Amino acid sequence: MRAWQIQRYAEPLEALSQAEVPLPDPGPGELRLRVEAAGLGLPDVFMCRGQYAFRPELPFTPGQEVVGRVTAAGAETETDLGSRVMAVTAFFRGLGGLAEEALALDAAAYPAPAEMDAATAAGFVIPYHTAYLGLVTRGRLQPDETLLVLGAAGGTGAAAIQLAKALGARVIAVAGGEAKVEACREWGADLAIDHERASFAEVVMDETRGLGVNCIYDPVGGSAFAAALECLASEGRLLAVGYASGAWSDASTQALVRRNASVLGVFVGAYTKPLLDEVHSALLDLWRRGAIRSIVTRSVDWSDAAKALHELSLRRTSGKTVVRVVESVHGAPNA
Ligand SMILES: NC(=O)c1ccc[n+]([C@@H]2O[C@H](COP(=O)([O-])OP(=O)(O)OC[C@H]3O[C@@H](n4cnc5c(N)ncnc54)[C@H](OP(=O)(O)O)[C@@H]3O)[C@@H](O)[C@H]2O)c1
Repeated sequence: MRAWQIQRYAEPLEALSQAEVPLPDPGPGELRLRVEAAGLGLPDVFMCRGQYAFRPELPFTPGQEVVGRVTAAGAETETDLGSRVMAVTAFFRGLGGLAEEALALDAAAYPAPAEMDAATAAGFVIPYHTAYLGLVTRGRLQPDETLLVLGAAGGTGAAAIQLAKALGARVIAVAGGEAKVEACREWGADLAIDHERASFAEVVMDETRGLGVNCIYDPVGGSAFAAALECLASEGRLLAVGYASGAWSDASTQALVRRNASVLGVFVGAYTKPLLDEVHSALLDLWRRGAIRSIVTRSVDWSDAAKALHELSLRRTSGKTVVRVVESVHGAPNA
């Protein structure tokens, strides 16, 4: 079968090339999926660079989430052969979604609703599960509260904007450039700040009459985290989600104590199936009611996967990009 593989650690265009590889065998708790579409994210770029927490042996296939049909199932799995699922892949073993067939975790595979198109399904699980676990489970965001979303035009940020609006909160989004700021407004942000034109922290403090925000969703880290900490209201919660900037940041304990504030870690991979099943079902309910919608803005052909990751690495994308796999490789969906 065909797969995109990271052959050496480099920027996506140099790191990735297509290869003919054997079909992977699912181990215990794993499914093999014929991939219909694969979602891209910044972690795939970090994997190309060899800068991610997981560094499988080279060469390997990235791609954290997919929609596809089950073609084989390992021991201790519950999903039916032939069923169509949206799932988190075994990317950490180097058997990710940028392939005709990928391995997925049975515990993180959910039936894909027939009415959900492939692109939406391939870009739903990781951004929306992260948003729900961050905003609801960890952050306890309330309808009368204000949320600040950093990296708001990215895949992780876009889901947080939409979920927070569905929960009834006021949302202030931060993104770079007019097009991304406009995208944040379209997803429902009440206010979108262009960090290339103004200090977002100053604007936030003005907008909140010096009180700050109740909750911050931060997939960026680095200096943005430090600036955001200054915008946290009394009893505020800063949700540390990611490090798009390339670096995590440490909070000053003194700054937290002064505000009775907290920094909370958010990591989807550390939660177990029963909770994730509940989260998924709550999200699907919101999606069916139209309270949250697809964050996928771009669907590219299989042959353009490396170029699409290149664009993502240069911060030129907004929302989520997905790669069409079945259609591109075989000519027709579900062929
Ligand atoms: N904790 C979890 O369970 C979990 C789950 C999913 C993702 N994450 C993490 O969340 C982070 C974002 O992932 P994503 O897929 O949403 O990324 P993405 O779609 O590329 O969005 C990231 C956003 O961060 C901003 N950014 C700031 N500095 C950047 C830099 N140096 N390079 C690239 N972007 C930069 C960009 O916005 P502007 O250009 O507008 O500033 C970009 O839109 C990653 O660190 C990922 O590992 C964590």
